[in-house]
Amino acid sequence: MPAISSQFEIAMLAEGPPSIGEGLERRCKLLRLYQAPDPAKAMEAAAPTVRGLVAAGHSGPISAELMWRFPKLEIVASFGVGYDHIDAAWAGAHGVVVTHTPGVLDEDVADIAMALTLNAVRKLPQSEAYLRAGGWLKAPYPLTASLRGRTMGILGLGRIGKAIARRAEAFGLKVAYHGRKPQAGVAYRFFPTLLGMAGACDILMVAAPGGAATRNIVDAKVLEALGPDGVLINISRGSLVDEAALAQALRSGKILAAGLDVFADEPNVPAQLLARDNAVLLPHVGSASHHTRGAMAQLVVDNLLSWMAGEGPLTPVPETPWRR
Ligand code: 8YV
Repeated sequence: MPAISSQFEIAMLAEGPPSIGEGLERRCKLLRLYQAPDPAKAMEAAAPTVRGLVAAGHSGPISAELMWRFPKLEIVASFGVGYDHIDAAWAGAHGVVVTHTPGVLDEDVADIAMALTLNAVRKLPQSEAYLRAGGWLKAPYPLTASLRGRTMGILGLGRIGKAIARRAEAFGLKVAYHGRKPQAGVAYRFFPTLLGMAGACDILMVAAPGGAATRNIVDAKVLEALGPDGVLINISRGSLVDEAALAQALRSGKILAAGLDVFADEPNVPAQLLARDNAVLLPHVGSASHHTRGAMAQLVVDNLLSWMAGEGPLTPVPETPWRR
């Protein structure tokens, strides 16, 4: 492997997992801009020579305007598989490589997807609260809906969607999916429209990427098609769901329940959703285990080390494919 120049400058705009900084600082000139007394000024001073950016923590959108301020920028390494906060199309058109962390978080996120499904259908958080409040001493907890006989429709059958599908099958659920096109070698039933799938399933699992193309695609019509036994689970991005329509559907009984790990404006959760007893709400914890966050951080570091060594990125996004 060619030697890495310790003068290669990489900037961190926000604090990420410590292992990212630790993995990089001995191999390059690492600028923790968020630690500067005036981060905006520090960014301006560093911009002419920075060649890599780490997008981790609350670094905000990595927009065209932001990347444009770094004339020598070669690579943006993002901590996460979803990269809707990065203008990857601009990066691709301007010779900047964007990397993300696919593959290493699928199983943990799929676990949380199933946990949300069980919690929403069997009301486990509500029944635990009932026990703690002494309700059980007076009467058994009321019966709930069940997973038996249900079909899960997965919106977005990518790596995470497939990990969820495997679990759903083990739980005895029928599985269907909707995406841009049917996938070769996949036996689950494909629906060409989301509305069609919502009408044919009673658990709608949102596992597709965020961004302009999918904004609010789970709208009032889709929720209505899901029906009064319907359950909506979202483990991808809050932006895919019209949250006002969802709150209304939960309030009016148009659907039975929801389980959400993601929201449109995190960490702000709409009051209308907080008010719903039939919504199970988690603070975006899909990948938040020591194991998986460690693997994600390592992949951020490995992408940058590989790039600095002249070996190219390990996991570039499709908009910035790497050709030697
Ligand atoms: C993380 C995620 O919460 O990978 C993603 O796209 O949303 C999550 O795994 C996030 O990237 C960490 O900031």
